[in-house]
Amino acid sequence: MPAESPAERITRLRREIERHEYLYRVENRPEISDPAFDALLRELRELEEAHPELSAADSPTRTVGDDRLAAFETVRHRQPMASLDNTYNEGELIEFDRRLRRALADDLPAADEALPYVIEPKIDGLAISLTYEKGRLTRAVTRGNGVEGDDVTANARTIRTLPDCLLTDDPPDLIEIRGEIYMTLAEFERINTARAAAGEPAFMNPRNLAAGTIKQLDPKVVAQRRLEIVVYGRGAQEGPPTFSRQNQIHEQYARWGLPTVEKIWTVTGIEAACAAVRELDELRTRFAYPTDGAVIKLNDLRLQEIAGSTSKAPRWAISYKFAAEQGTTRLRRINLQLGRTGVLTPVAELEPVLIAGSTVSRATLHNEDEIRRKDIREGDTVIVEKAGEIIPAVVAVVPEKRPPGTQPFDFPARVREAGFEAERAPGQAAWRVRSSDSPELIHRQLQHFASRTAMDIDGLGTEIIKQLIAAGLLREPADLYRLTVDDLIGLERFARKSAENLVAALAKSRENDLWRLIHAIGIPHVGAQSAKDLARHFRTLDALRSASAGDLENIDGVGGIMAAAIRGFFDDAEHAARLDRLLEAAQPNTTALEAPPGDNAALAGRTFVLTGTLPTLSREEAKARIEAAGGKCSGSVSKKTDFVVAGEAAGSKLEKAQALGIRVIDEQALLKMLESAPNA
Ligand code: IVH
Repeated sequence: MPAESPAERITRLRREIERHEYLYRVENRPEISDPAFDALLRELRELEEAHPELSAADSPTRTVGDDRLAAFETVRHRQPMASLDNTYNEGELIEFDRRLRRALADDLPAADEALPYVIEPKIDGLAISLTYEKGRLTRAVTRGNGVEGDDVTANARTIRTLPDCLLTDDPPDLIEIRGEIYMTLAEFERINTARAAAGEPAFMNPRNLAAGTIKQLDPKVVAQRRLEIVVYGRGAQEGPPTFSRQNQIHEQYARWGLPTVEKIWTVTGIEAACAAVRELDELRTRFAYPTDGAVIKLNDLRLQEIAGSTSKAPRWAISYKFAAEQGTTRLRRINLQLGRTGVLTPVAELEPVLIAGSTVSRATLHNEDEIRRKDIREGDTVIVEKAGEIIPAVVAVVPEKRPPGTQPFDFPARVREAGFEAERAPGQAAWRVRSSDSPELIHRQLQHFASRTAMDIDGLGTEIIKQLIAAGLLREPADLYRLTVDDLIGLERFARKSAENLVAALAKSRENDLWRLIHAIGIPHVGAQSAKDLARHFRTLDALRSASAGDLENIDGVGGIMAAAIRGFFDDAEHAARLDRLLEAAQPNTTALEAPPGDNAALAGRTFVLTGTLPTLSREEAKARIEAAGGKCSGSVSKKTDFVVAGEAAGSKLEKAQALGIRVIDEQALLKMLESAPNA
């Protein structure tokens, strides 16, 4: 084959890069990692530099990609939104500093003058530009192609921590505030768990899910997935205040009540900047948002202006990407793992490999189609990625290392071999165990039923459940409540005492709050928090069972998907019959949340944030009592907060409450409010 000419290679690289840009920015399903993408970009840049006659203004080396979709209105940014050049090692940071000092030579007092820098976390979300006019939020626009982006204002307004108004009496006439929309890992996992339960394919990572969510056409769908925002930059501005340094922008944003990053480093000189980057790498897992690097910015805004920008990125800032958390290892076997709603998830059993400080020996393969798309086979050498706390995933196969004689993975054959009676319904990604006779499925469901966040039955651990199933005593939750001490003492490992204890624990669980029962019965998409919301709203299981999808959707925190899942669950004859048998056998006495509404007007439906150490109540106690009285507890202060309960050494939450004008009370006042609550 004749060698590729530079012109051909350039064309091919551009096409390839544009395809990956599109997968990343529009489809939110990248096929290659960031470092692999940057390697392609770097090769293209070097070729273009060596052959200037082949450069082009629309080359991906000079443009920022494009996230726009036809369905949204396009809005022009008052000031363009640039991208950043990436670096991967400290040598490249030192080179950046050298270039900058050369460019600024005439404006610095001395040639060896150390430059002032700020180091910020690089948030792994999607860029957003927020326009505030006279202090009011008027627009939220995505980066788009850097010059114009998609108007996603209605969707952005569903973000609870995004203030509608800046907290100031003299806001600038207009300001474009730049930041990042992201999703927490916890929220990402909540959504993926629900999707797995519904047999839908899992989302790949929080960034892609956040990007896909902000581009949903229905803001109600957006509101069901909790997005977050953090701000760090500025576009156009009209009217005071004037800023002279980047760190002042952060400080002013915080005073205006905007969510800002919890830590930035203000340093002098590139060595100190490198040290800050290392420190950030240590701290970043504790931040609320996913981070994939650091951004090093010149702190002096006048010098920023002198340094200027290329068409793609500023010369005064650069990003430093932390090492990709990937490893290469051999995939020994693919196993099928049964979830409590019956979904079979393929899991790769790996030769243990160290990734980002922890040993990984299992990784998810998502579903049948993903295995086929990547052609993953048993015996392959695979690339495994671990992002933060996310379950490790197999991202690709190393084809050169495939041993002879491997076969494409046959999912249906493995299902049969493992003895599951499962099927894949048309239009669904997941295989589901069909019959409720599957002992594995019964085991998973009972395990969930008895677990700490469901019925919380002491002494009913996974081994005991297994034993009871094997003994033919247990097929469904109702059977638990028919167990007698005599049934149990015949079994291995059961002395009279332990049998009595288990029967007593079961009896006690009859008195559980209603939400525990709602959670325990295993409605897809309904986790503990949603079960609490539902219990609080409906007060009885009967009321919940007869609610229409429309009634359900009107509840705070319940969206269309969950409403449909709840209705579908109760409408299913098998589920309904099983639930009736459970109620018959258990006779649950779920009084705690059954009291009529109007219990305590001071607490019902109100949101509380606890901060500092309270004199007598522990945090858990305070939370439990607030919730029992119909209130809600949240971890962070926003304009939706009704009360902040402050104890000793209350910190930033107290400050934020004061800044937002939220009522701050002490424990005594809380106890007073609780006293008048019948349920507390
Ligand atoms: S500054 C003109 N600061 O990273 C400067 N960007 O790879 C442009 N990002 O488009 C951005 N954290 O979406 C800046 N602390 C931070 C950032 C940050 C994340 C994103 C942003 C930008 C992309 C470039």
